[in-house]
Amino acid sequence: MTTASYPGYFISFEGIDGAGKSTHIDAFANLLKQRFPERKIVLTREPGGTELGEQLRQLLLNAPMNLETEALLMFAARREHLVQIIEPALLAGKIVISDRFTDASFAYQGGGRGLSIDKLNALEQWVQGKQNQTILQPNLTILFDLPGSIAEARRSKVRTPDKFEQMDLDFFERVRQEYLRRAKADMNRFHIVDATQTQDVIWQGLELLSLPI
Ligand code: TYD
Repeated sequence: MTTASYPGYFISFEGIDGAGKSTHIDAFANLLKQRFPERKIVLTREPGGTELGEQLRQLLLNAPMNLETEALLMFAARREHLVQIIEPALLAGKIVISDRFTDASFAYQGGGRGLSIDKLNALEQWVQGKQNQTILQPNLTILFDLPGSIAEARRSKVRTPDKFEQMDLDFFERVRQEYLRRAKADMNRFHIVDATQTQDVIWQGLELLSLPI
């Protein structure tokens, strides 16, 4: 199974809650606008990105539900996002930056909550599989990695926690390990950021990232 290729370029931002990805994503989109002025940039997020996806996000982040229901709704929102936003943009040669994508389902529903990786693989194949045996994946995934305890301390300084942000340290350690497992299995796609560094140092690293766009 290889990754589907399009004229556009697809980047996802990932990491456990509190890792700091949201701090950098807007600035990163602006950096790409300056660096590639001829390319259109689409900044989007999961769960969400479409009207239906944002409605599903409200449910997913707030309503208690069965684990398999949660995974199915994540992938249902993703299907809508792909069909309505991501694939048309990539076909039109745009750069898509998504705040989370499928790695988050493996990390949170798989690593965190314990859904079997086989089921997640099947959903990934169903939702992102193409007719020519390829699978739609980001060209680049920037993973903000840090220990769960540091992320927890950072999270406690901000707003009211959603359903996932309320989970305990062990949950976030499992989420982190699953992100790292996915990254090790696909080092060509992943760029791991040491998120324990200061924001300035992290930003300098992102500015230097070479992007074969
Ligand atoms: P997040 O991206 O952290 O947004 P915000 O910065 O506004 O809190 O929140 C999305 C939450 O959804 C996050 O806790 C991870 C979770 N999530 C999953 O559990 N599975 C998924 O497939 C996705 C995309 C997100």
